[in-house]
Amino acid sequence: MKVDVILGLQWGDEGKGKIVDVLTPRYDIVARFQGGPNAGHTIEFNKNKFILHTIPSGIFYPDKTNLVGNGVILDPFIFRKEIINLADHGINATSNLVISRRAHLILPTHRLLDASNETIRGATKIGSTLKGIGPTYTDKIARNGIRVGDILSMGFRSSYLSLRDSHLRLIEFMGFNADSFKIDGLSFSEYEEKWLDSVDFMRGLNLIDAEYFIHQSLAEGKKVLAEGAQGTMLDVDFGSYPFVTSSNTSIGGVCTGLGINPGNIGEVIGVMKAYCTRVGSGPFPTEQPGDAGERMREQGHEYGSTTGRPRRCGWLDMVALKYAIMIDGVTRLFMMKTDVLNDFAMLQVGTGYKVEGNQMNQVPYDLVQDKLEITYEELPGWNTSLSAIKCKDDMPGALKDYISFIEERTRVPLIGLSYGPDREETLFF
Ligand code: GDP
Ligand code: IMO
Ligand code: MG
Repeated sequence: MKVDVILGLQWGDEGKGKIVDVLTPRYDIVARFQGGPNAGHTIEFNKNKFILHTIPSGIFYPDKTNLVGNGVILDPFIFRKEIINLADHGINATSNLVISRRAHLILPTHRLLDASNETIRGATKIGSTLKGIGPTYTDKIARNGIRVGDILSMGFRSSYLSLRDSHLRLIEFMGFNADSFKIDGLSFSEYEEKWLDSVDFMRGLNLIDAEYFIHQSLAEGKKVLAEGAQGTMLDVDFGSYPFVTSSNTSIGGVCTGLGINPGNIGEVIGVMKAYCTRVGSGPFPTEQPGDAGERMREQGHEYGSTTGRPRRCGWLDMVALKYAIMIDGVTRLFMMKTDVLNDFAMLQVGTGYKVEGNQMNQVPYDLVQDKLEITYEELPGWNTSLSAIKCKDDMPGALKDYISFIEERTRVPLIGLSYGPDREETLFF
């Protein structure tokens, strides 16, 4: 058996959570492999809406196992809050949830460090979600981190205090006023107390050697779906560095984040919006700050699932999409938020970049938005509601043409589309 993979191909928020939930009935295990609570994955069904940050999006099916892999970083406080929120809606999120002991912990001081780093960056700040992502991965790579499995050891409290104190010294040295900074509305000491309570809570969860679990499951013929967070253009190596997150959001992260090898990987399903969005700072070549972008934001409710910030919106970027497909080895495409373009008479797709007048049909090393000129191709919009479509033949001709255009340019088949946030508003071809 193989591990199929869901990856975001743009700047995150492509609709990965929705599509993972829709596909879960076909799998036995859903596994997150990187990122942390910077992610916000939205799932809607039966008029309920859930936003998951760390818990995999297969959690709504009690007979499926949900795995938090070693490549994920986990904030016990946020994690516990997610579990409680699901319990309040009658969903038991602990009985079918397993967590790798090798996943790293986000400490309260990682969140202070994140805020401190952003303050120092000033105008060039990344626009981080301030969940402590950069500092936690920094400590992991620097071999200073604390892992989930460590919470079961006698030495946990002293390692925690030692790392916390070294962070506090650094924060003081950086001149950051931690006393006046609120973490999720709480002072540092209030947050730390709740965080430590949440660590106690986590001791009762199913903490496992996930690399063995996943290989045994595959050997038993179980099917695994790996759920990416963020998107390829936010990858720490291949994204618009330094305006990226701190993990490998692209295909490589699946192997290092679950302990599997390239031979274990099956289909790579790339998830794309019918247009593009980006939240936070950094280059966004096809951004439309004017009317078109405003309309996309209002039609698509493009406000961050984790931070509530308005998302920047723009046309589909074929250069960036082809780049992400190349990096990830995408075998299938799934298009989300198709309905958001329903009211547009004409659509544009960015199909070429020019840098200082020279055509450059690849993502440049130094992706600086101001230096780029984008070549657009125009296609007619379908200009009609999609709510009644039941099969591919029901689709308006202009939508079929838009899909053919994407398939021809990317040379990857599009296997379905989403035309609304609900589980039901999904069409497979
Ligand atoms: P993720 O981070 O990739 O899981 O995506 P988010 O959940 O952050 O953002 C996607 C947003 O679009 C959520 O509010 C979804 O409920 C919503 N959504 C997903 N698919 C569709 C769709 O086809 N049409 C519309 N209108 N909304 C969608
Ligand atoms: P999902 O999984 C969209 C962005 C932030 C910021 C940059 C770095 O929901 O698609 P970080 O908190 O990682 O230090 O932020 O990355 N970012 C996301 N944007 N969707 C996400 O996740 C994101 N996770 C991080 O806005 O620009
Ligand atoms: Mg999101």
